[in-house]
Amino acid sequence: MTTNASGARRAVKAVIPAAGLATRFLPATKAVPKELLPVVDRPVLQYIVEEAAAAGITDVLLVTGRGKTSMVDHFDRRPDVEARLEEKGDLERLAEVRRTSELANIYTCRQGEPLGLGHAVGVAASHIGGEPFAVLLGDEFCDVDEPLLPSMLDLQAQTGGIVLAFVEVDPSETSRYGIASIETTDTEDVVKVTGLVEKPSPAEAPSNLAVLGRYVLPATIFDAIADTKPGSGGEIQLTDAMAALLADGTPVHGIVYRGHRYDTGMPLGYLQAVVQLAVKRPDLGEEFRRWLGEFVGGGKG
Ligand code: UTP
Repeated sequence: MTTNASGARRAVKAVIPAAGLATRFLPATKAVPKELLPVVDRPVLQYIVEEAAAAGITDVLLVTGRGKTSMVDHFDRRPDVEARLEEKGDLERLAEVRRTSELANIYTCRQGEPLGLGHAVGVAASHIGGEPFAVLLGDEFCDVDEPLLPSMLDLQAQTGGIVLAFVEVDPSETSRYGIASIETTDTEDVVKVTGLVEKPSPAEAPSNLAVLGRYVLPATIFDAIADTKPGSGGEIQLTDAMAALLADGTPVHGIVYRGHRYDTGMPLGYLQAVVQLAVKRPDLGEEFRRWLGEFVGGGKG
């Protein structure tokens, strides 16, 4: 762990659960994990590891499953590819290829069967040990210019409890998300969480704050997961384990994220992420934007 300005210890390990079946993106994800789908020229997973590394995370554990080991290869050195780029004098690409192996220390462990997000986090127990840690879901990431994770890590170091992140959703859409009941705090955009409800109807929803795929958790979550019975969908749910800690008095806070989040777990969100990030790219953006404008205007096919 590292120490922040106020002397509290900040988590330096992260878990990326990436062993799910990705049914919402079939058939693309029959043989290729959704975490490796490219957004412009790098896989989704690289954006996520970059987000973690930029927040000071130095140790990343990828929880993988059947057919998913290629995810780990992405973060290895490729001496053959590097030698070819060096011969060609393509130093920019060489630096990009090397960078992926230098972002963080990457470890992996297996979830033998996809028994739920809580179960996937549970298999990380022996790697994490007794320290707090971050969980980053493998199909969403925050805009690099609007980081979220650093303030979550700082808040967890202060409270010692659970820190979640929320986005405000349209009240008519609450039934698609996990929704929090909250109390406000003295700090803008920091809320105290008093409960979590999975996919409530708009009438039942206690707020319009939906859980986003970033969590900072104390190591006590592992005992709570071990005690959690299969819940909705027959899966061991992380939400149920967090609810048990909340009931036992663990402080649970949330940060309301106002930045841009890319959700690549389904085709529409994935396409939006590709277009949004392509137009921002210094090397491609201008030409792509011009083409896109003509295409949308009906001038190109
Ligand atoms: P999702 O709810 O997105 O599930 O899981 P999924 O299987 O990836 O996708 P769909 O819903 O079938 O399309 C959230 C995260 O938790 C991981 C997933 O890989 C994803 O990053 N996960 C989920 C696991 O690692 N193991 C599981 O058993 C379930």
